[in-house]
Amino acid sequence: MEMEQEHIILLQKILVLLFSVTLFWKIIKHMCGLLNIEKEPVTVLVTGAAGKLESVVIFLSSFFHYQIPALHTDTYVQIIINSKLLCSSKGLFSSTGQIGYALVPMIARGMMLGPDQPVIIHMLDIEPAAEALNGVKMELIDAAFPLLKGVVATTDVVEACQGVNIAVMVGGFPRKEGMERKDVMSKNVSIYKAQASALGQHAAPDCKVLVVANPANTNALILKEFAPSIPEKNITCLTRLDHNRALGQISEKLDVHVSEVKNVIIWGNHSSTQYPDVNHATVKTTDGEKSVRVALANDNWLNTEFITTVQQRGAAIIKARKLSSALSAASAACDHIRDWVLGTPKGKWVSMGVYSDGSYGIQPGIVYSFPVTCEKGQWSIVKGLKIDEFSREKMDATAKELMEEKTLAYSCLD
Ligand code: LMR
Repeated sequence: MEMEQEHIILLQKILVLLFSVTLFWKIIKHMCGLLNIEKEPVTVLVTGAAGKLESVVIFLSSFFHYQIPALHTDTYVQIIINSKLLCSSKGLFSSTGQIGYALVPMIARGMMLGPDQPVIIHMLDIEPAAEALNGVKMELIDAAFPLLKGVVATTDVVEACQGVNIAVMVGGFPRKEGMERKDVMSKNVSIYKAQASALGQHAAPDCKVLVVANPANTNALILKEFAPSIPEKNITCLTRLDHNRALGQISEKLDVHVSEVKNVIIWGNHSSTQYPDVNHATVKTTDGEKSVRVALANDNWLNTEFITTVQQRGAAIIKARKLSSALSAASAACDHIRDWVLGTPKGKWVSMGVYSDGSYGIQPGIVYSFPVTCEKGQWSIVKGLKIDEFSREKMDATAKELMEEKTLAYSCLD
């Protein structure tokens, strides 16, 4: 009898224990859920978000037949103000094809930082675009994005940079059909110097910066030089667009889905000297993972047309649209930041323009695109890849162009 009672007590104890463990687990899960909901919002700055500037400047460029002198920020604004009157009276504005305009809803939808990460978006543009910028703010509010916790639309660079965790620098003087990136250099380096000091002084200390506006590598370099308080590892430029273009070209040629192809590399400058390298790229096939070179068995195409197509894709889009790429650039900017912040999948690398540490014999002192993997918010250059003579030559040629751009950029700042 006594024994029986002891058993019952033991059983009761086990039941109470099981119930407590279950309850405790549920409470933990519930609290995790609450923690997720209450994740601190990340503040993302997008410059040039009004979706207006590019068309104004394109109009200006044709108006002056490219004879616009090296512009500094103030004169730039002044000329735009004058031409806005001209343009608006002739109804020449068009807001199509703007990277910033395509990018902000992607950020607000969680495509950049994940579906559970609230965001506050700061948008900066120049004074003449203030009304349009406010219109974009109205649209963001009207879209009722669940993750969007605040929007600041401003023409004040200090207000725009205040406390930002991520800065996507899209604003700048755009390239028009027939222009090389170098042609827009003098206009953009002055703008980037000014924005660098505002970011350095007012952004969060660990702010991650992605420069999109061309010449992207050299603008990023100028930004690094004039924002010494931002760690150099936090200043990058966009070559993910070229990386994605290379993946796209290969998947089309192989007739496989783009997600089956990985580990292409964009070396160097986001310009027509960039080197899209497929020597380490692989494709998933029904027989397992294969080298792209083996699967394609067309070295001639890979060493010629493929390279030039990727190098010239930006120009081809400008020729077709009469405007720079926008949706693909915005999507690539999201890919770049997402992988940087949340990490690259195992076994996969991406291309990022970063300050050279001398890897692969590329001299420090330039922002150069390398293959990188990302973990815990930090990128690292993929080391030890075999470089053949063909690649070496192309990697050095694009590095040489970046050294020349650097000299030119500094001469514009003198
Ligand atoms: C692109 O690559 O599409 C952009 O950088 C536009 C340009 O100037 O080429």
